[in-house]
Amino acid sequence: MKAATDAKVILQARGIVKDFPGQRALDDVDFDVRSGEVHALIGENGAGKSTLLKIIAGVYHADRGEILVDGYHCDITNPRESQALGLAFIHQELNIVPHLSVAENIFLGRYPRARFGLVSLAKMVESAQNVPNALNVGVDLRTLAQNLSVIQQWKMVINRALAQNSRIIFMDEPTSSLTHEEVNDLFRSITHLKERGTAVVYVSHRMEEIFHIADRVTVIKDAKKTGSANIGEMDSGKIYHMMLGRELKDVFPDREEPQKAVCLEVKNLSRGHVVKNVSFCLHRGGNSGNRRLGRIGPHRIGPSAFRGRPERLRGYSCQWRDGEYSIPWGRYSPPNRPGPGGATPGWAHSSHERQAKHYSRQSG
Ligand SMILES: Nc1ncnc2c1ncn2[C@@H]1O[C@H](COP(=O)(O)OP(=O)(O)O)[C@@H](O)[C@H]1O
Ligand SMILES: [Mg+2]
Repeated sequence: MKAATDAKVILQARGIVKDFPGQRALDDVDFDVRSGEVHALIGENGAGKSTLLKIIAGVYHADRGEILVDGYHCDITNPRESQALGLAFIHQELNIVPHLSVAENIFLGRYPRARFGLVSLAKMVESAQNVPNALNVGVDLRTLAQNLSVIQQWKMVINRALAQNSRIIFMDEPTSSLTHEEVNDLFRSITHLKERGTAVVYVSHRMEEIFHIADRVTVIKDAKKTGSANIGEMDSGKIYHMMLGRELKDVFPDREEPQKAVCLEVKNLSRGHVVKNVSFCLHRGGNSGNRRLGRIGPHRIGPSAFRGRPERLRGYSCQWRDGEYSIPWGRYSPPNRPGPGGATPGWAHSSHERQAKHYSRQSG
């Protein structure tokens, strides 16, 4: 062990490399966490964020690189060791036991014992009430975890981390299963943690969230760190560029951009009382913007446009679903985003293009 180099930094990961068979998941990644900060770790799906967390947690072992906690080199070989260092990890799949109470889940595996070695629920409830800085889960601590909402389960698991005296709580994609109100609730909880000196590493692929909550941001793209900065030095354009390697305007091109060939055109479509006089165009490789018609129900326009036979289209070129059109992935890719298997933007297979033209003529 070496002496501390920077008192403010709790954790440093340096030059982390991790290979999976046939794939490098992390390539020389540096990452550090300071006391009491909210540090967003952001990158597209598959960038390597969860792998970095699992290495710090001791779930995976890095092929190269080092981890320092409080400036000391630490060889974290399993999750118990990271927990002992004050690091808590809340992964996307919450580690909860549904048929146990909130109090029991908070002390999972670390039950306070009563006389004769029996687990005492009363003692656990009392201990759970006394966890320093604990969040208010909003339910009786005897409630079974299975009866909690997702945000209440998150708060319960955060309280477990606090009960373990964690100094850094890593949250992997916490908002992926939360409603809008629950996300705000979680942000308030994170602010509560920060104000009481607990650092939070907030992992996300949703850039807009981090401006609400983060003090600092580190971006990973294709296994490499592309940057790290205070949030005040960042804007969404910079972060998009670091995440995607291209400009925001290339991700969402200007409307004035020349339109591509029309593959479906619907004019003055009416159907009973449901659809009245609707027109739109679908361009090759483009998005009809039809999702903006949410209020009048594009899921109804779709079947109407195709003479009420949407199911015949399934597997060919278009489906209509939940108020927006979608085309089976792999056959169509949004602009500038190659699909799996190298599918190119636009109607990737000429047979699907023929089908689209065929149905387009029928409905014209
Ligand atoms: N256990 C594993 N075995 C093989 N490949 C993996 C494993 N875990 C992750 N990967 C791969 O490593 C890359 C990074 O994954 P991950 O860290 O989960 O990304 P992120 O969390 O940023 O979405 C991905 O391409 C993923 O497929
Ligand atoms: Mg992940």
